[in-house]
Amino acid sequence: MRGHSFFIAGDKMIDSRIKTLANFVNPGSRAADIGADHGYLSIELLKSGKAKFVIATDKNSGPAEVAEKNIVAAGLENFVEVRRGDGLKVINPGEVDTICIAGMGGALICEILRNSPEVVNSADNLILQPMNAPERVSDFISEIDWKIEDIDLAEVGGIVYEIFLAVKPENFSVKTFKKDSSPLLANFLNQRLKKLIRVRNEMSKSARARSGEKFLSLVSEIEKLKNFLNGG
Ligand SMILES: C[S@@+](CC[C@H](N)C(=O)[O-])C[C@H]1O[C@@H](n2cnc3c(N)ncnc32)[C@H](O)[C@@H]1O
Repeated sequence: MRGHSFFIAGDKMIDSRIKTLANFVNPGSRAADIGADHGYLSIELLKSGKAKFVIATDKNSGPAEVAEKNIVAAGLENFVEVRRGDGLKVINPGEVDTICIAGMGGALICEILRNSPEVVNSADNLILQPMNAPERVSDFISEIDWKIEDIDLAEVGGIVYEIFLAVKPENFSVKTFKKDSSPLLANFLNQRLKKLIRVRNEMSKSARARSGEKFLSLVSEIEKLKNFLNGG
């Protein structure tokens, strides 16, 4: 994802991850694209009609300038405001109904949300795609008493990522997660199994870690995943 300098916002750069993120946005939203970098998500949201207005932000001036250039090249400058600054601090409460934060570590996504509770609470939907530590994001959503309404999967460079849609409890309706019928599910579960086995092998080296509750739940999750993947 990184390493794009200025380029024309052609459709080939709008990859399946960006499309999957945009798919969670309600048509006609006022969206924030936090850490917009190249601005592709902002562009896709506007081109697809998912957003009527986007605030694209980035902490760093280089990416903010690239986003601005790509947005102008796409002819969308009247519908996007590019702001440079940290997380949601450059958004006023009530300015957006949908907050998208993608392509960052799970801890950073949580920090950005934690630092701006008024902006978060003035929105209706959070669309979050952590590059790592997805459990931190799901724990944070519970911590602030929001609900995970849906999870989908997207693949980038052979790695499958989870994308979370979180809503306030009063707007929550139970549905089957898109993830559960995704063609990427088996890849995602195999990837998770490998990761858990790596962690288990590391923990096995310490007698103390082996006797802890975390180790037991890890072993149990590994078994469940193996059974599931073997069709059991
Ligand atoms: C890997 S890019 C992801 C770009 C895009 N969101 C995507 O998913 O394709 C991460 C971007 O987040 C920006 N960033 C990092 N920390 C940030 C923060 N606290 N607030 C706003 N932007 C931040 C970086 O400058 C970078 O452009």
